[in-house]
Amino acid sequence: MDYISRIQRAAVLGAAGKMGSGITLLMAQEMTERSLDPVYSGREFKLMAIDISDEALQGLLRYVHKQSARKGAKMAAQYRSRCLQWADLDDEGLGQAYADRVLSVIRTSTSISEAGNAGLVFEAVSENPDLKVKLFRELEEAGGQQDVWYFTNTSSVPIHLLDERAGLGGRILGFHFYNPPAVQRLVELILTSSTLPELREVALELARNMGKIIVPANDHAGFIGNGHFMRDALFGLAEAQRLAKGMPLHEAVYMVNTVSAKFLVRPMGIFQLIDYVGIDVVRFILAVMDPYYPNETLHSALLDRLFEAGVKGGQHHDGSQKDGFLKYEEGRPTAVYDPDNGSYVELSTFKAGCEARLGGLPASIPAWKDVVKDPEKEAKLAAYFQDLGALDTEGAALARAYVKRSRDIGQQLVADGIALNEKDVNTVLLTGFFHAYGPINLYLA
Ligand SMILES: NC(=O)c1ccc[n+]([C@@H]2O[C@H](COP(=O)([O-])OP(=O)(O)OC[C@H]3O[C@@H](n4cnc5c(N)ncnc54)[C@H](O)[C@@H]3O)[C@@H](O)[C@H]2O)c1
Repeated sequence: MDYISRIQRAAVLGAAGKMGSGITLLMAQEMTERSLDPVYSGREFKLMAIDISDEALQGLLRYVHKQSARKGAKMAAQYRSRCLQWADLDDEGLGQAYADRVLSVIRTSTSISEAGNAGLVFEAVSENPDLKVKLFRELEEAGGQQDVWYFTNTSSVPIHLLDERAGLGGRILGFHFYNPPAVQRLVELILTSSTLPELREVALELARNMGKIIVPANDHAGFIGNGHFMRDALFGLAEAQRLAKGMPLHEAVYMVNTVSAKFLVRPMGIFQLIDYVGIDVVRFILAVMDPYYPNETLHSALLDRLFEAGVKGGQHHDGSQKDGFLKYEEGRPTAVYDPDNGSYVELSTFKAGCEARLGGLPASIPAWKDVVKDPEKEAKLAAYFQDLGALDTEGAALARAYVKRSRDIGQQLVADGIALNEKDVNTVLLTGFFHAYGPINLYLA
């Protein structure tokens, strides 16, 4: 079966979720692009969007239409020349026509069996291995044929386990989009020793057509992205607990968050990132990964404490940030959670003291948002980290330890054969996490 025949009938499981909605958008757009090619005129493209609630699926359709109308209007000139019936439309009209066409390939359903005759199924349901296996089995039974291919978006579950438990015979690979899939360019591609070679070819073509950067990762729980992020987060959590032996925990959290953002020139501090992903999600991913790494403890008592207090982070339906370790107003942290009192403490009451304790920063410090796209980024970062390394302050010492730990994690991912090489680890952090520099570097060494 060639690429087009394979993607022509596709399905997304968990289509209304954070990842599923982006995957549905990208996949429906990819089908639309192919259908505009005269070579494939007359072929019917169909994408089954499956989730548990009709209401959520209606929301998904609104999202797909809105995003596609924007894309259509932006690329109006190109579509006018590709599609005769759109030749006379203005940009806005073309946006609407393109969005209508994208929407026309999607069918929604709350019944998994509707995906039974798909050639390609994207799986993006909640990160629960038992649920994923159950759905694969149901689909295999519903299809009654043995040729459905599965591209799973799991963040942490080894793909071969899903394959073995669901009896898929190598018709599965990890196609790990980053959040949000429509914006993030990175896809980690995870093959198992049983993955049929033809799946890889289709995955690569699909990723290329979607404009994604593919990084291969070996089939170990967490892969490269979470393999790094989870350990980096555990380090930040442990550092905060260590500091909290001599200061209130909320102040320690603030110090580590500040060092991991500003001092390390990252887009956000480690506690903001944990909040963004969700305290419950991070905790769950750690629990999935932990059994596969017997020499490590992939667990944090501090995460448990917040989770048990009902503090979970993540996003509201409108995309705004929910409170987690930090409290947010218009996206900006304004307070830090104090688990001893079960309440948030305003930054204004302790920030100055923490900053005095961390010490000043060199004048050469670049802001992440300025340096990340600066052609002279490397020279500027090297100069800054050299200046930071010369400081004898608590902040510089914390930054040095963080940079070292981040590098060690990256190098371990290569040593363990999870990443093929150091460049791939750096690419994942540069593209999937928007870092200005990869973790495997010579800074503060
Ligand atoms: N959120 C992220 O940052 C991120 C990044 C990369 C990968 N992932 C992975 O993507 C997957 C989905 O994560 P998410 O963040 O989008 O979760 P989510 O909770 O936003 O979405 C999951 C969706 O699955 C649906 N679902 C649950 N049970 C179902 C069933 N029986 N049948 C059909 N649909 C069902 C839910 O209704 C929900 O819409 C997970 O495996 C996660 O690890 C998440």
